Amino acid sequence: MSRRRQIYEGKAKILFEGPEPGTVVQYFKDDASTAGATIEDADRTGTIIGKGVLNNRISEYLMTQIGDMGVPTHFIRRLNMREQLCREVDIIPLVVVVRNYAAGSFANRLGIVEGTRLPRTIVEFHYKSNELKDPLVTEEHIACFGWSSPSEIDEIISMSLRTNDYLSGLFMGIGIRLVDFKLEFGRFFMNDEIRTLLADEISPDNCRLWDVETNDKMDKDRFRRNMGGEAEAYQEVARRLGITPESGPRDLPGPTLIQ
Ligand code: TMP
Repeated sequence: MSRRRQIYEGKAKILFEGPEPGTVVQYFKDDASTAGATIEDADRTGTIIGKGVLNNRISEYLMTQIGDMGVPTHFIRRLNMREQLCREVDIIPLVVVVRNYAAGSFANRLGIVEGTRLPRTIVEFHYKSNELKDPLVTEEHIACFGWSSPSEIDEIISMSLRTNDYLSGLFMGIGIRLVDFKLEFGRFFMNDEIRTLLADEISPDNCRLWDVETNDKMDKDRFRRNMGGEAEAYQEVARRLGITPESGPRDLPGPTLIQ
């Protein structure tokens, strides 16, 4: 693990000071938690061996593709199996969820069968708060409490939809349905300018990915719903993307779930 000064420790990642001002190092842990997205039972934590290595690699790949496609991201480069160098941003306190099919909290809230195709893509905002379990909020709440400005929200919606179009096609090409996913955005200060950047990570931890043929879940719902086979599912996503990490004896010792 990095010897740099720790800035923050989250459920699945640790942030360290980066080598230059304005940069951070994201370290990907193997820890998993049910907090955040829909919780079927009480909050549960566990470890998915090798998850951090896979998510580092998958997020590197997807952030690079999205950046090349024209959505600016915080990602600079992967440093090693578990760490990546990113631009330091002020995280906007919103969890942005993009939904193409009904699933999870949306399906429960509205009584819609999971897997139902939505007539149009929905962009939802949740207020980022572990204590409050990321409650759903509207643009009215966001404006009222000043979490983001109307123009920044317009930019976030447009960046989210572009990301959705791109990722939906990318995943469809490898036989995976992008059911929904969550994004986070940050403000990057460059001289007098503030830029909105896509931040955090994009991985099976924060996407719902279903096999097109079988509807098998290839994402963190396997952990949330106690289904088992999460490490194999993440590996299969990496394999289909053609980016299986160079496995090392300590980094990928095999698919074991410890709870
Ligand atoms: P949900 O249906 O449980 O609200 O989750 C929607 C999608 O967003 C799902 O792919 C999981 C992801 N998500 C997170 O990764 N973290 C979060 O805090 C939230 C609210 C959702």
